Amino acid sequence: MNIQIELVQREDYSDMITLADLTLPDRMNKHELKKYFELFPNLIFKATHEGRLVGFSCAGIDMTQRSGWMLFSNVAPDFQGQGIGKRLIEARLSALRSFPHLQNIWVTVNDTNSASIKALQAFGFQWSHDETDYYGPGKHRSIYRLPVLNLQEEADITRIKPQSMTESM
Ligand SMILES: CC(C)(COP(=O)(O)OP(=O)(O)OC[C@H]1O[C@@H](n2cnc3c(N)ncnc32)[C@H](O)[C@@H]1OP(=O)(O)O)[C@@H](O)C(=O)NCCC(=O)NCCS
Repeated sequence: MNIQIELVQREDYSDMITLADLTLPDRMNKHELKKYFELFPNLIFKATHEGRLVGFSCAGIDMTQRSGWMLFSNVAPDFQGQGIGKRLIEARLSALRSFPHLQNIWVTVNDTNSASIKALQAFGFQWSHDETDYYGPGKHRSIYRLPVLNLQEEADITRIKPQSMTESM
């Protein structure tokens, strides 16, 4: 099966909303998706098969560019379980890693979503913490984290190490 993974275009918007309504009804808000297009155009990927949109996923990054977020992902029911979800994770991780100061990638996961959890764990995400009452009284969210080896900051540390070692001697 030939699945293409690439950045979305504005023309994909209405197919994306239709797919999101099918896979996770009442989760993706139309305005939310519009905002993702405006804020993170290079972090939204689609999966297509013979020109048909069969999945898409969104990521974002905070203002300090140290924390990336996996925001939404879905695959059409008749295409699930064939590795597309993982390819959409891979595309977002790769795009986020191009930010030189990125330290962690975070994702909110529903505890019952075993497909999501398995896919994220395959890339090294691990449960980090829960935020109690996040969605209202008694409704927590689980947050998973993937630490990012930051080559730029590693290089900075290596450069300053000799001086700090001298100081401590
Ligand atoms: C979550 C979702 C995007 C995963 O996409 P997918 O293409 O089916 O995932 P993959 O085929 O890449 O499989 C990922 C992992 O989940 C497992 N998996 C797939 N479907 C599964 C299912 N129904 N139950 C349990 N595990 C499942 C796969 O075996 C794989 O695990 P592995 O690495 O141990 O083999 C897709 O199931 C989906 O769209 N779900 C509805 C929307 C949703 O819940 N989105 C996430 C929250 S925003």
